[in-house]
Amino acid sequence: MKCEAKPFLKWAGGKGQLISQIKDLLPSEFVKTRHIEKYFEPFVGGGAVFFWLSNEYKIRKAFLYDINLEVITAYQTIRDNVSAVLRELNKLENVYLDLPRLKRERFYYERREEYNDFIAGSVKNHVVRRTALMIMLNKTCFNGLFRVNSNGLFNVPFGRYENPTICDEQNLLAVHGKLQNAEIECRDFEYCVNKVDSKSLVYFDPPYRPISPTASFTSYIKNGFADPEQIRLKKVCDKLSIMGAKVILSNSDPQNVNPDDKFFDNLFKPKYRIDRLKATRMINCNAERRGTIKEILVRNYALKD
Ligand SMILES: C[S@@+](CC[C@H](N)C(=O)[O-])C[C@H]1O[C@@H](n2cnc3c(N)ncnc32)[C@H](O)[C@@H]1O
Repeated sequence: MKCEAKPFLKWAGGKGQLISQIKDLLPSEFVKTRHIEKYFEPFVGGGAVFFWLSNEYKIRKAFLYDINLEVITAYQTIRDNVSAVLRELNKLENVYLDLPRLKRERFYYERREEYNDFIAGSVKNHVVRRTALMIMLNKTCFNGLFRVNSNGLFNVPFGRYENPTICDEQNLLAVHGKLQNAEIECRDFEYCVNKVDSKSLVYFDPPYRPISPTASFTSYIKNGFADPEQIRLKKVCDKLSIMGAKVILSNSDPQNVNPDDKFFDNLFKPKYRIDRLKATRMINCNAERRGTIKEILVRNYALKD
C-alpha cells in the first residue's frame, strides 16, 4: 500500500508549493544520508514540510509544536487513535454527502456551532469528535482555511464544493504512521530550545509579517506575530546555532511591498544566509488577486561543508 503522507488540513501559509525550492537548500549532511536524527517544526500548522520530509527521509524523532491547541489536538488524536477518527469522520461524510445543497449548508453551520462549543469550553475533551469536526469543517468551509475571530472561535463560512472528500482514509492512515515517532505538543516556539541538540534540523515557519495593510495571514490565532516576535525568534535561532543545530526559517519578503524594507536582511545578516524564493500567494483580501511574490529562506549553514 502506498504510504506517502500529505497535510490532512489546508492551512494558511502552507508550504506545499515551496518544497521543490526548499529541498535544494537542505543541509548536505542530511541530503547525503537521507537520515535526520531529530527534526523540529515549532510552527507546524498543516505540516507540509514535515510530511514531505517524512516521505523522503528517515526521521528518527520528530518534534512538532504549535500554539494552536486545535491543530495540535488533531495531530495527537490521529497519532494515538486514528481508527476512532476515521469512524467519526466517515459518519460525518456520509451524512453530509447524502444531503441536498441547502441542507448541507445548515448541517455545516450546526457542526461549526458544536465545534465552537468545544473551543469555548477551552478544555481538551472529546478529542475524537473534535478532530473529526475540525477536518470536516476544513474540507467544506469557504477556501478551506482555519480562521478564528477575536474570541478564538472558528468563523469561516460554508464553502460550495460539489463532492468534497471529507474522509481521506488512505492519507489519514499514512499520517498516523508518520506521527508514531513524533512528540506533539501545544507550545510556544521557544520551547524547542530545551530539546534541540547538535544533530537537530529545525525548520521555523512563523506567521508572516503582513505584506499589505489588508492581508490577514496572521489570524490563525488570536495574537498576531509582529516585529518584536520576529526578533524574539531570531534570538532563538542564535541560541540554536550556538548549540550546533541546523536552522532554516521562512517568511514572506517585505520587499514584495516595499523594496526598501530590509527588516529581515538587517535582522539576520551577516551571520545567516538569505535566499529569495518565488511563491504564488494571495496578495490582498480579495481571493481572486493572486500574484508571484518572493519568500525569504534564512539558514545558518553553508550548502557545502
Ligand atoms: C505560517 S503557519 C505554518 C504553516 C505550516 N508551515 C504549513 O505548511 O502549513 C504559522 C503557524 O504558527 C503558529 N503560531 C503562531 N504563534 C506561535 C507561537 N508563538 N509559537 C508557536 N506557534 C505559533 C500558528 O498557529 C500557525 O499554525
